[in-house]
Amino acid sequence: MNNAGSALMPEPVVRAIQDHITLESRMGGYEAAEARRDAVQDAYQSVAELLGTRPENIAFTENATVSNMQALSSIPFERDDVILTTRNDYASNQIQFLSLQARMGVQVLRAPDQIEGGVDVQAMADLIRRHHPKLVCVTHVPTNSGLIQDVGAVGSVCRDQGVLYLVDACQSIGQMPIDVNELNCDFLSASSRKYLRGPRGAGFLYVSDHVLERGLEPLFIDMKGADWIAEDQYRVVRDAKRFENWEFAWALVLGTGEAARYATAVGVAKIRDRVRALAGRLREALGAIDKVRVLDHGSELCGLVSVWIDGWDPGELKAALRDRRINTSAQIRVYAVIDYDEKGVTASLRMSPHYYNTEEEIDQAVSAIRELLLERV
Ligand SMILES: Cc1ncc(COP(=O)(O)O)c(C=O)c1O
Repeated sequence: MNNAGSALMPEPVVRAIQDHITLESRMGGYEAAEARRDAVQDAYQSVAELLGTRPENIAFTENATVSNMQALSSIPFERDDVILTTRNDYASNQIQFLSLQARMGVQVLRAPDQIEGGVDVQAMADLIRRHHPKLVCVTHVPTNSGLIQDVGAVGSVCRDQGVLYLVDACQSIGQMPIDVNELNCDFLSASSRKYLRGPRGAGFLYVSDHVLERGLEPLFIDMKGADWIAEDQYRVVRDAKRFENWEFAWALVLGTGEAARYATAVGVAKIRDRVRALAGRLREALGAIDKVRVLDHGSELCGLVSVWIDGWDPGELKAALRDRRINTSAQIRVYAVIDYDEKGVTASLRMSPHYYNTEEEIDQAVSAIRELLLERV
């Protein structure tokens, strides 16, 4: 139940990775990449289909953070430009915005939340109209709670106002349907290893036609993204590969493509419903235990369940559950400073079931927590 950390890879994903590594060991890495060129192209196609776009709009990266960095570095920020984000954006995104603020003098604004949790879209729309930000960035599902932010509604405003829009879909990809056209985003970043059930060390970035046509390119573009055509001149490639690096773990790309295919075959809407049902069962049962406080806020909640348990350090609880072969995650304040401070806690225990978890496993986890609490009375 740590799928928001890293889920279990299904057999076809493992096979795709292992087969490619074996091929590399037998014929050499460059030769293996050439031999599997069509399969690699299929991986772009599968990820594109998952997002409702074309392979030309997909760049493979090492992880969601690198995807975000590549997108951010392509935007020609100037002093006093505004980056508008939310109070629930991922820690690394927030750190990068603050780094840009320190180095370049951009302003970082955060739209307020609505009372039930998650960004207040109306307030965000007002801020967009007032400040005309250079970039709006919204994390769809934060790392530390079951909140789902309304990335579609924010996207409509960005489209109408002609503002660049980056969605962090690291926790939502593979967990719920995502169509980049419905989100009206210019960039969407994701990792393979979480709800998508792909490998660690792999991720991808969606880049819109609008961005490609505007000629945006990452600051540290390399010979994958551009051709060095004369001593003082390079030419950027036309598609989203301009956001990639030349050297890449093709085995992980093939594994990511397989994971995208697998999720599509299972049916992402079905996955969403099942994950929500399991998480709902877990939240309700945990909420009924004395001393347990469920921390998830939002009008709509997803698979991440976070709780504070009085008298327990989440790290200790995670270890005790691990001894019982139950995987969870101990989350700490620095992962989401604003959210934890508002909730008045310094840490939480995060449990994130996937569709392959069973109702019995949910009930066992709840019983285990109840027993551990009793031990301490
Ligand atoms: C919401 C969110 N965004 C981004 C990331 C970063 O992903 P990665 O570790 O693949 O860079 C995470 C990781 O947990 C996350 O939860």
